[in-house]
Amino acid sequence: MNIILLGPPGAGKGTQARKLVEERGMTQLSTGDMLRDAKESGTEMGKRVAGVMARGELVTDEIVIGLIEEKLEANPEGSFIFDGFPRTLAQADALEELLAKHGKSLDAVIEMRVDDEALVARITARSTCGDCGEVYNDQTKSWPADGKCANCGSTDQKRRADDNEDSLRTRLMAYYKQTSPLVGYYHCKGTLRPIDGMGSPDEVAGALAGELG
Ligand code: AP5
Repeated sequence: MNIILLGPPGAGKGTQARKLVEERGMTQLSTGDMLRDAKESGTEMGKRVAGVMARGELVTDEIVIGLIEEKLEANPEGSFIFDGFPRTLAQADALEELLAKHGKSLDAVIEMRVDDEALVARITARSTCGDCGEVYNDQTKSWPADGKCANCGSTDQKRRADDNEDSLRTRLMAYYKQTSPLVGYYHCKGTLRPIDGMGSPDEVAGALAGELG
């Protein structure tokens, strides 16, 4: 099974993708995580995209399509969750071609619907574990009081450079201008499955499972 998690920043794509990886053994392909890894490891590409990401703008189609292509080539038998990709119509077309090249297709595009006010609250309270990627939230799932990640015991609590109100405004605008046309695109293709992303993470996971079967 291959699915896309589509939704604005803070919709809960990463949170739900991690659950699907645990429960169904799928592979999460997050272009945001790949770009942050490139930035941390100081590659030329990572240096080029750092400023773009910090401002909340989209990285070029060419770069992110190349990243996804590499992952698909490396694991042609995988079952994928595309998290944060595609984000433009050009990326959506490229994904279709890449999947077809590997004899695969998309089973569902899950559109996670969340109110803008909730997105701001979620994003400004987020932190993640720098070692295992576990996602925390100061309001709803706080970093453990003993200072250690509940999943792996690491003390490396991280906050993203783009998790501030200015970048978030740009990220939201990028979503509505460049990414939300994908809702109509996948609706026409018959793969769009909208779910309510406003419930608790477990409630959202239930709605997601209802769509995936
Ligand atoms: P990316 O890393 O993809 O960020 P994003 O799309 O802005 O999404 P987020 O990771 O911020 O949110 P999420 O939906 O995963 O929410 P999460 O589960 O963490 O992209 C970052 C940047 O990289 C982009 O701005 C761009 O520059 C570049 N980029 C990436 N992909 C690209 C592409 N394809 N093309 C071009 N550029 C690209 O949850 C958020 C918080 O809410 C957490 O604290 C969590 O604990 C909490 N939470 C989650 N679910 C719930 C719930 N149900 N109830 C309450 N709280 C919840």
